[in-house]
Amino acid sequence: MPNLKPSPENPQPMDDDIDRVLISHDRIAVRVKELAAQITADHSPPNLSGAEITIVPVMTGAMIFASDLIRRMPIAMKIGLIQVSSYPGRNVQSLGSQIVANQVGEIRGRHVVVVDDILDSGGTLHRVVPALREMQAASVKSCVLLRKDRPTAHAIHADYVGFEIPDVFVVGYGLDYNDYYRNLPDIVTLTSHAQAK
Ligand code: IMP
Ligand code: MG
Repeated sequence: MPNLKPSPENPQPMDDDIDRVLISHDRIAVRVKELAAQITADHSPPNLSGAEITIVPVMTGAMIFASDLIRRMPIAMKIGLIQVSSYPGRNVQSLGSQIVANQVGEIRGRHVVVVDDILDSGGTLHRVVPALREMQAASVKSCVLLRKDRPTAHAIHADYVGFEIPDVFVVGYGLDYNDYYRNLPDIVTLTSHAQAK
């Protein structure tokens, strides 16, 4: 567990668990704006007539990324949620992906953009994209904020990628370790001490 008890000497105790900042919130904000512009252009006339998009954030990791992204997209859209479990608890290795909740709504004939925090083993997109195609979406594209530099991540196609990162375990901006640290504004690595807790 992170150090949860603030004290006058240590008002931001989660910060003690940060090893280094890999991508600052400022850099994320710039890239999110670019991705939003690209996805908007690809889903606007003359490419599409509009109002046909459903954005599907993969919960819970994509929550913060998706909320920033969609507020930069000035087009009519629906939002549907899907929840996938792949790194339960304190694991830092994917244990295989499972759809544990599907609330995407009616997507038949709609253009779907799946939004995830990170492409790692590829298990999540490999599971989610075909499931949405089976629901007869007109098209399914994928957008990930981060892609790890490992063969499994490059073996799975992603249409929009925010940043390429080394094959390290990261938290913050929605990404968790044992469900903590999602609220850190930057993408960071944890100290070995924090990972052992
Ligand atoms: P994949 O299914 O292995 O491609 O990984 C996708 C999911 O695993 C992500 O949506 C995250 O929830 C989780 N994940 C993968 N790498 C990391 C990491 O470095 N930190 C935190 N979560 C991760
Ligand atoms: Mg996760």
